[in-house]
This record gives sequence, structure tokens and C-alpha cells, in this order.
Amino acid sequence: MFAQGCVLVCALLLLLTSHLASAQLYPVNGQVPLDGVCAQSPAQLYMSGSFDKITLALSLLAFGNLYDLGSYDLCSMSHDTHYCTTYFGVMCVRDDGSEESIPHGNTCNMGPVLGICVPQECNGSVLSAQVMNYTQHAELFQVAFGVGTLCASAMPSYCSNKSYGFMSADCMDEQKSFTSDSSAVAVFAVIVAFCGTSILCGIAGVYRRWSLAMKSREESSIETERLLPVAEEKVQINDAPSNKSKNVAAAAVTVKQSKLWEVVGWFDLVENARGFFNVKSRNVANVDTKFFDGVRTIAFIFVVYGHCVYFPAQLNFYNPNETAAFLESYASIGIFPAELAVDTFFYLSGFLMFHLYIAVGEKLAGNVGNAKQPPISHIPMMYLRRYLRMTPVMMLTMVFAVWLSVYIPSGVLHRAYHNLPMLQTCKQYWWHQMLYISNMNDAAGWSECMGWFWYLSADFQMFLAAPLLGVVYFIHSRAFVALMGAGIVIITGLQTQQKYAAFLGDGTSFYDKTWMRANPYFFGLACAALVRFPQVRDIFSRSSARWLSYGVGTVLMVSAASMMWLGMKCTLEKVYQGSSYSCPTNFESFMNAYAVSAWGLGMSCLALPWSISAEMGPMKWFLSTKPFAIASKLTFCGYMLHPVIIMILVTDGIQNALFTPLIQYSRFCAAILITFFSATLLHLVVEVPFAKMNDAVTR
Ligand SMILES: *[C@@H]1O[C@H](CO)[C@@H](O)[C@H](O)[C@H]1NC(C)=O
Ligand SMILES: *[C@@H]1O[C@H](CO)[C@@H](O)[C@H](O)[C@H]1NC(C)=O
Ligand SMILES: *[C@@H]1O[C@H](CO)[C@@H](O)[C@H](O)[C@H]1NC(C)=O
Repeated sequence: MFAQGCVLVCALLLLLTSHLASAQLYPVNGQVPLDGVCAQSPAQLYMSGSFDKITLALSLLAFGNLYDLGSYDLCSMSHDTHYCTTYFGVMCVRDDGSEESIPHGNTCNMGPVLGICVPQECNGSVLSAQVMNYTQHAELFQVAFGVGTLCASAMPSYCSNKSYGFMSADCMDEQKSFTSDSSAVAVFAVIVAFCGTSILCGIAGVYRRWSLAMKSREESSIETERLLPVAEEKVQINDAPSNKSKNVAAAAVTVKQSKLWEVVGWFDLVENARGFFNVKSRNVANVDTKFFDGVRTIAFIFVVYGHCVYFPAQLNFYNPNETAAFLESYASIGIFPAELAVDTFFYLSGFLMFHLYIAVGEKLAGNVGNAKQPPISHIPMMYLRRYLRMTPVMMLTMVFAVWLSVYIPSGVLHRAYHNLPMLQTCKQYWWHQMLYISNMNDAAGWSECMGWFWYLSADFQMFLAAPLLGVVYFIHSRAFVALMGAGIVIITGLQTQQKYAAFLGDGTSFYDKTWMRANPYFFGLACAALVRFPQVRDIFSRSSARWLSYGVGTVLMVSAASMMWLGMKCTLEKVYQGSSYSCPTNFESFMNAYAVSAWGLGMSCLALPWSISAEMGPMKWFLSTKPFAIASKLTFCGYMLHPVIIMILVTDGIQNALFTPLIQYSRFCAAILITFFSATLLHLVVEVPFAKMNDAVTR
């Protein structure tokens, strides 16, 4: 990413300096000339942004600063003026001359943005027409941001070479409400329907439980009454024949009613909320997996922390140099477990999936610890259940993010969020997510949609492969562990090649590729097998072996995160200091290979003894506590929602995001609170009902 940015800067700088010589192409004061109702007074010009600052930012290598927002607060305070922002777009011109704006044509995310202070009479549409006409014909603008530059490189092949980059404008006090967008209204209706169903079913459930309680009380009171009148019984017996057919019909009605009540039960908000706080022990086959809940929750919190730097940076920090300085200091170490947190999820996913899969095999064989037949007939159902479990929640999150969430932020950068290619491309490419192939986007030449969903795709692909690999375990369990080991060694070896780099390096397109990130999953699969080996159980019954394992695991994990930090420091130094950078050559190769494996191995060293031994050390106890068990139910919904929440928080401000460590922590706190809150809603109203429905349908 940084390397790309550097290329962009160098190219732009060259172009700009060569063109600045021919000064008449350049607007006066670097500002877009406006006339008619939009003609600006000197004061209004003063409160508007200018291209000068963008040029200056580029010459200072501050390539994140492609904006000058002018003076939002002064402009909104002064009489008869209002504040508007321009936003960058790409226009495709076909051979027949017809034009079409390309929603994902802007590959610079928020691209160049100018804040413009104009007279009140100059509304968004008039301003937009003038700014568009100006930027379309300004040669300098086309040279810097037009088609073929890095900001507008993704164009469909049918666009002719007359296609161009442009700026439109949008005024703060004329923001569109989502009610004018039928897709957004539809998404809103679906969300309201989900919430309404949950509440109604909750009320119905409360009524039913109340009426059942009353009935059972009545019955018990009838029973006590029955002890007294014996004489009347005879009369009832005479009635019996006519009652019989009635009873059959009544039974059919009861069956129908109980079906209906089952459906109501899926959505019953009260029951679901009660279930949410109810923690079931899922320990099977002598293996303790409770502490995984704590691991999963903490990994998720790290992901949010890391993304609180990453996503605002996508929308440009006001002061990217501060961010870079922070990332170069060891104080930023907490950010790097975030990149590795996904590997933690993969590890947990692999371990739990395979552990339960073997447990099913053992149950079918009726022979704990010695299953000979893989439960192959079970596999299609596993796939189906997982697909049905993940997909509704994921698709709802996506349609919310793409069509509705864009109307939430009302800050000066609300348009930047609205126009994010990462969201806009989803309108075309949503089906990639439904098929769990979204991490193939660059290989297949698709634009990226909801970038962070790559994890869901990769995890699903690994899930598809795991039971097939697992067949080896049932034939020869040691051969299976050896196979996993071989897989790990091969991927680690590939990572020493720069072109396959998963984290940093020239070939970072391997960051989201399943086959390059599968190592922790393999470690998880291998560990799920190893916990069943009597020899392994013997070894970890000795406390010395356990402590050695904890020590090695901690060193591996801390060193993996530190290597990542060092790698980032090196990359930043390379960008900012050019040739005078001091990292050893081939450091990136080493770092990639080390990071993809050391983290998984470290996790294994901690998880193996923890899951085998009954001993409850302070760490394991802490990770197994109830709050973690509850919070870990939210990690799936939280993972999908948190980038949307972070970006809304950033774009809702009245200026560009600022980076200081303190602001970073407060942004993180706000994001984590809102994320857990929204994830709880999504969990109770969508995830749990669909999970219950799944259970009923695939039982
Ligand atoms: C904007 O102003 C122009 C004239 O100044 C007017 O014709 C047009 O209807 C206005 N557009 C909106 C959306 O108010
Ligand atoms: C568009 O811009 C050109 C020069 O850049 C100007 O001559 C022309 O009048 C403008 N057209 C409109 C409709 O404003
Ligand atoms: C644009 O494409 C046409 C043919 O489609 C070609 O004749 C023309 O030279 C091209 N113009 C430029 C500036 O490349």
C-alpha cells in the first residue's frame, strides 16, 4: 500500500511540476473559478479550499492529504453563505458519446476533496454543474486525476479514451435523506421488519408462558378439587365417544399451534436475550475448549484496535506523518496482533471445527478416542449449516452498509464515505460474497467490495477443505499430523519468496489468499488431532512440560508481533527516507515467513496444554470466565460491523480525522462500545433466529 502510494506521489509530482510552468492552466489562487449565482466574495474565497494545498501536500510527500476542506465552521456561521464539498468521480464516455459515471472508478478512496464556501443562492446542482464543467476541461486536473492516473485506473473496457475525471459538489445543508432512495428505504424496511418480528414474537412468547403458567396453576387447582367430587366422573365417561373425534381434531390443532409457536420461538427476543446470557459448556471428549472464548474475544478487540488506525487512514488522516511516527515507535505494538488476530480466528476455527468433527466420528463409532470411519455423510450437512448460519447475517450487514449506512454520517466527509469504492462496488459484486470468493478479487480482476470480508471467504474456503483433509486422520492419525506439518513447512517456505509475501512486500495481494494464510488453520487441525494422542496427554500431564510450552508459546507470539512491527518500521523508513534506510536486506522475507508460522505455533504451545490439562492457571481461568463466554458470541457480528462503525465515526466529524495516540484510544473506545452494542442487536434479531431456524430445518 505504501509502496503504491510512493509511486503515485512521484508520478503526480513529475506531472505537476512540469505543468506548473505553463501557469495559465492553473486556476487563480488554486481555486475553482465560479460565476453567476455562485460567484464568490473575497471572504467566501478565503473560507474555501484550494488546489494549492493539494499540490503542496504532494510536494511534501504527504500523499494522504488530497484535500483542502477550507473553513467549515466560519462558512456555516456567516450570513447568506453555505458550505459545500466537492467529490471526485470518473466519467466513462462510450464511443457513441454517451456518458456514465463509474461508481468504483475512484481508486484513491476519498480522492481529492475541496471545501467550497458559496452564496446561499448557489445550490448544489448549480455548483456541481460549474465544478464539473471546470474540472472536465482543466487540463491539469485531467493530468493529475483523470483516467489512467492511479486515482482513476479501474475503468470498464467499453470506455473510450475521451473518458475523464471530474468533481461534483454537494452542499451540507442540502444533504439527501435516505427516503429519496428506494433501495435504502427497502433495506430500512427489512431491518424494521426484523426488529418488529423479534419484539412481537417476544411479547407473544411472554403471553404464552404466562398463559401456560396460569393453565398449569388451574390444572393443579382442578386436581386438588378432583380429590373431592368422585360422583361426577361417571357422567363424563358417557360422553367419551363423541369426545374422541374432537380430541383428534384438537390434537391436529395443537400440532399446528406448536409448529407456529416454534417459529415464534425462533424470533422471541426475550428468549433469545435470556439464551444470550446463558453459557453452555461445550467441552466434549475430555478436551477443555472454554478458554477459547476469551482468546476469541481478545483477538477481536485487537482487530478493532488495529482497524481504528487502518480505516481512518483509508479516509485520510489530517496528519499522516504523526501516524507514521507512531507506527515506528514500539508504543504501537498493540496494532500488530490485530493483523495476526485473524490468524488466531483461523486457529480457533480449525481446532474447534476438527475437534467436533472427530467427536462426531467417535460418537458414531461408539468408541471415544478411536474412531475408524470419517463421518463423511455428515459433511454436506456441515457445509449447509455453516453456509446458512453465516450468510443471512453477512448479507444483511452488507446491504445495510452499502445502501443505508451511507446516509448516517453528516460531517464534511459524509460524501467521501458515500462514495467509498469499497462500498459502491458491492452494488455490482455482492454475489462474490454470497459465494465466498471475495478474496479472489485481484486475481480475477474484480473491484474490492467490503475489503474486510476477505476473512469470511478465506475461513469458508478452509472450512470446505478441512473435512476432506481430515479423512487422512481416520486412516492414520500420525500421517494426518505429518500432512499438516508438511503444509505448514511448504507455506512457510513460499513466504520467504518476496513475490508470495502475505504481509509486507511487493506481492501483498497474497494477504487474503487462503493458501497463503492457511498455516494457523493447519496448526488448529493438527492440535485437534494431537489432543487425542495418549503420548501427548502423557507429556502435558507433567507440569514442567506445560511450563516449557507456555514459555515457548509466549516468546513465539510476542516475537511474531514484534517482527510485524519491525517490518512496518522498515517499510515506513523506506518510504520516508528512501535509500538511507537501515533494515537488513531480505528482512521482509524473513518477517513474512516467521509471522505466518510463529503465531500459529505459539497459539498451539499455549492451547495444547490448556485444553488437555485440568489445571486451571490464572490465565486460563481468566480466559474461561463468563463475560468472555458471552462476549465471544458477538465476535462474528462484531467483525462484520466494526469497520462500518469506525468509518461512520470518522466521517461524521466536522473536519478530517486527526491522529494522536489519545484520539486513537478514544476512537477505539467509542468504536468498541458501539460495535458491541450493534453486534448484540444483530446477534439477537438476526443471527440467533436464523441459527434456530437452521437447527429446525436441518435437524
Ligand atoms: C438551484 O437553483 C437554480 C437557480 O438558481 C434553480 O433553477 C434550481 O431549481 C435549484 N435547484 C434545487 C435543487 O433547488
Ligand atoms: C465550461 O467551461 C468552459 C471553459 O472551461 C467555458 O468556456 C464554458 O462557458 C463553460 N460552460 C458552462 C455551461 O458553464
Ligand atoms: C483515441 O482513440 C481513437 C480511436 O478510438 C484514436 O484515433 C485517437 O488517436 C485516440 N486519442 C488519443 C489521445 O489517444
